[in-house]
Order: sequence, then C-alpha cells, then structure tokens
Amino acid sequence: MKITVKDLHKSYGDGDSKVEVLKGINCSVEDGEVCVLLGPSGSGKSTLLNIIGGIEPASSGAILIGSDSTADMDEKKLTLYRRNHLGFVFQFYNLIPNLTVKENIEVCSYLSKDPLDIDELLRTLGLYEHKDKLPSQLSGGQQQRCAIGRALVKNPSLLLCDEPTGALDYKTSKEILVLIEQINRKYRNTIIIVTHNDAIKNMAHRILKMRDGMIVSDIVNEEPLSAADIEW
Ligand SMILES: Nc1ncnc2c1ncn2[C@@H]1O[C@H](COP(=O)(O)OP(=O)(O)O)[C@@H](O)[C@H]1O
Ligand SMILES: [Mg+2]
Repeated sequence: MKITVKDLHKSYGDGDSKVEVLKGINCSVEDGEVCVLLGPSGSGKSTLLNIIGGIEPASSGAILIGSDSTADMDEKKLTLYRRNHLGFVFQFYNLIPNLTVKENIEVCSYLSKDPLDIDELLRTLGLYEHKDKLPSQLSGGQQQRCAIGRALVKNPSLLLCDEPTGALDYKTSKEILVLIEQINRKYRNTIIIVTHNDAIKNMAHRILKMRDGMIVSDIVNEEPLSAADIEW
C-alpha cells in the first residue's frame, strides 16, 4: 500500500494559544517499503503517524492510501480503513492484562475477514511456547512481540510502529527490529517505524527526518543493512 502525505498541517488550540505542530508535510512511502521516521522529541513524529493511521484528524491537507484520500472518508469508512488496512504498535505494548498471549492476538483476528493463521504467527514471533502466558509473565521484549502479533494478525497492508523499541534494552531492541524486518520480507507490508534512535535508519529503505513539524530530509537508502547488523 502506497501512502502519500500532501501539504499536511496540524495545530492544537486557537488564538494566542495556537501551536502549529505539523507545518506542511509532503512525503510518500512506496508499497512494501520500510520507512524510518527520525526526529528529536517533540518534532511531530507521533502526530504525523496518528494522522496517517486515522486516529487523529488533520487541520488541513490529505493522506492518500493508495488512491483514496482519508479526507473523503466519513467516520464509518475511516473505521473500516483502520480495521482492514492498519496495524499499530506502540512503545508501551498496551496488551490486555487478563488475556493470554494467544488470546490477545486472537481478539484482533476477529476484526479481520482474512486473518493470518495464529499458530504460524506465534511461531514467527517466537512466542509459540509462551502462548498460554499472561502479559505479566513475559519479558518486555516478549510483550512487544505479542503487541506486534496483535497488530499483524489482520495482515495489514500498513504497519505503523511508534517507538517500538523505546522501552527495550539493546539486545531486545535488535531482536524486535529483526522481527520487523522478517515481517516486511514475509508479508510485504509497508512499515513506518518512528524512532529517535539514529542507528535504526540503516535498516530502512527510506529515511525521513523531521524537525520542528517539517520534513527536513527524505532519502532512499540504496543499501539498507540487515537489522541484525545495525549497532549503536
Ligand atoms: N493533544 C495535544 N495538544 C497540544 N499539543 C500537543 C498535543 N499532542 C502533541 N502536542 C505537541 O505537539 C508537538 C509534537 O508532539 P509529538 O507528535 O508527540 O512529537 P514526537 O512524537 O516527535 O515526540 C509537541 O510539542 C507536543 O507538545
Ligand atoms: Mg512520539
């Protein structure tokens, strides 16, 4: 799924307290690309990702999903867009605490017409032997794997990850990045990873840099490194 962002503006508040958070964003991410969106804290990365994901409205401008503009979608169409095309992964997993690993993934599969096979997905995630545990019985990395599984079970054409390694140590972060890379190769989905960790850009097909609500650099990485080889 190709994503195009056109002259996107977002501000909060109005009058004297108006804050412009996105100041005219133009960019696109090609179908099947891994895009790393870099920028310092407060530069507007999460806001941009949330607008692409249809969970926050823009002030003006457009998001094209393939050739459909989210601006033309009513609330019902937007819900279907999120349900059928989008997976979201956050820094703090947001798992349901009283459901097992398998159940956390299963509840999302019910939303899809054509979900992935859950046992196969659990194996891809390296969670098969932990499938009956509760989130509290898992390490941070395992919880993030489960959250990725939950986003992925619908087989979304677009996977949005907001600081997916932000709460993880070095080794676990790398394991999660390797998993994201495997997912991209296996399912060919478009993936956007938001991070403030500069090293992660090396695994991207496309590197977008944001500063102060603007895209300041948009580079196609001709020779991405494999996730296992990036270091910081
Ligand atoms: N709901 C909100 N109301 C007012 N300001 C907000 C809101 N959400 C985010 N902001 C502001 O927008 C700016 C960008 O935030 P964010 O997109 O979260 O940045 P990043 O993810 O790059 O750290 C920050 O200055 C933040 O304070
Ligand atoms: Mg953020």
